[in-house]
Amino acid sequence: MSKIGIIGAMELEIETLKEKMNITNTVNKANMSFFEGSLNGTDIVLVKCGIGKVNAGICAQILADNFDVTHIINTGVAGSLDARLDIGDIVVSTAATYHDMDVTVFGYRLGEVPQLGTPEFVADETLIELAKTSCETVNPTIKVFKGRVVSGDQFICSEAAKDAIVNNFDALCTEMEGAAIAHGAFLNKIPFVVIRAISDKADNSAEMDYPTFEREAAIHCAKLIENMLPNIAYSFSAFSYHNLTYLFYG
Ligand code: ADE
Repeated sequence: MSKIGIIGAMELEIETLKEKMNITNTVNKANMSFFEGSLNGTDIVLVKCGIGKVNAGICAQILADNFDVTHIINTGVAGSLDARLDIGDIVVSTAATYHDMDVTVFGYRLGEVPQLGTPEFVADETLIELAKTSCETVNPTIKVFKGRVVSGDQFICSEAAKDAIVNNFDALCTEMEGAAIAHGAFLNKIPFVVIRAISDKADNSAEMDYPTFEREAAIHCAKLIENMLPNIAYSFSAFSYHNLTYLFYG
C-alpha cells in the first residue's frame, strides 16, 4: 500500500489539503505537526516543515524514519526564472539542486553535494507524469512546465540575484526547500517530486507580487495534488502487483 508524504513549507501551502483530509492521528516532532490520515481514499502524511533547507531536510528524514512513506511530494510556491512562466503557472520538477552549494574548487558541478555520486536529485518519472496529467485535468487554463527546480536559503528578489542563478543553472524556478527534500528522499531511496506554482518572478517585483499571488498559487498546487493522489496509489499497487507476479512466476 502506498503512503504519500506531502510537505509544504508554510501553512498556506498545506491548508487546502488539510481542510479536505480525514485526519486520524497527529504526531508532533522537531517543532512540526505530522497529520496522518487519508485524502480521497489515499493514505497520506501532511506536514508543514517551515522555511529553508534545514527544516525541509529534517522533515523528509522524519517522514522516512517514522512514517514509512512510499513517496514524497513537495508542494508550494516559487519564483520564476524563465520568461515563459507566468504567475500562477505550475512547475513539475524533473530534478532539484541547490543554487547555493559551491564546491566547484574540487571539481564538483555548481550545486552538487560532494561525495553523493549524483550532480542533482532526479525526480520520479511516474510522479512527474501523474502531476502533469493531473494539472491538465484540474487546471486546464494553467500552463504546466517540466524542468529543474533550484533551492537555496534566500528569497530571490533582485535582478542581480536572479541573473546569478539564471546564468549558472538551467532551471525553471527557485524556492527554499525542494532540493533539501529531494536530498532527503534520495538518501532514503524514496521517489519524490516537487510541484510548485509561480507566485512571483524572483526579481525587483517579487516583494510586491509574492504576498498578492501566493494564496492563489498555493491553491493551484493543492488542487493538482488532490487529483493526483488516487492515481499514485493505483500506479503503486499495479507496480507492486507486477513485481510480485514477476517474483513468483519470473
Ligand atoms: N518562493 C516563492 N518565491 C520565491 C523567491 N522569489 N525566492 C525564493 N523562494 C521563493
